Amino acid sequence: MKEIYHSALFDELKGQIGVKRVDYQQSTALVYDVISDVVPNEFFDCDLIYTEPCWKDGFNKFNDRAGVTSSRTYQGYIASMNDIILKLNVPTVVITGKHALRYWLQPNQMFESKLVHGSNCVALVYNFKLDRPYASVVDMLPELAAKFNKVGDFNCGYGYTGKIFAGCGKNFVISDYNAKCIGYISNNIKGWFK
Ligand SMILES: C[S@@+](CC[C@H](N)C(=O)[O-])C[C@H]1O[C@@H](n2cnc3c(N)ncnc32)[C@H](O)[C@@H]1O
Repeated sequence: MKEIYHSALFDELKGQIGVKRVDYQQSTALVYDVISDVVPNEFFDCDLIYTEPCWKDGFNKFNDRAGVTSSRTYQGYIASMNDIILKLNVPTVVITGKHALRYWLQPNQMFESKLVHGSNCVALVYNFKLDRPYASVVDMLPELAAKFNKVGDFNCGYGYTGKIFAGCGKNFVISDYNAKCIGYISNNIKGWFK
């Protein structure tokens, strides 16, 4: 079955209701805008950050979907996340595209990989080093879940990061500025832990 994934290349889920927050066991999904909001305290409990921010081509589409009307730049979006990475200061993996490399902080390690649906991406690694490069995030995430206890993802979309960590018996704090994403997660979170 095709993995549900929030991409600007696919249609949004139809009829999805927005939800602000859901807590289940020791995991949380919440609405948080990385540009305009203060970093939620919950992220300071995470021992790993793993996130898949949007590509420049999809930036305006995601803003529209989230109902954002203020003027924003892609460079400003990444600058906000660079600040968050510095503030949290824990092992971090950012999945991005080659087009965006010039905006990101200098990583400790960088390698080419593939997204869940097979598109090319680049992994940027901060505050630690992975033992090896991973050809796909599908292989990388379970291995991260084996090593870390609570992942934070502040561009969670429909929650693939949380789903993989939950399936490995680990916890998460995941967020998105689009409340419909949190609504989808709220409907599905219990099933991820079974
Ligand atoms: C490539 S998608 C991530 C997909 C995700 N890994 C999944 O499992 O569906 C990028 C996500 O970043 C979110 N996003 C974009 N700008 C944001 C912002 N300023 N604050 C929080 N989330 C943002 C979008 O709503 C989108 O869900």
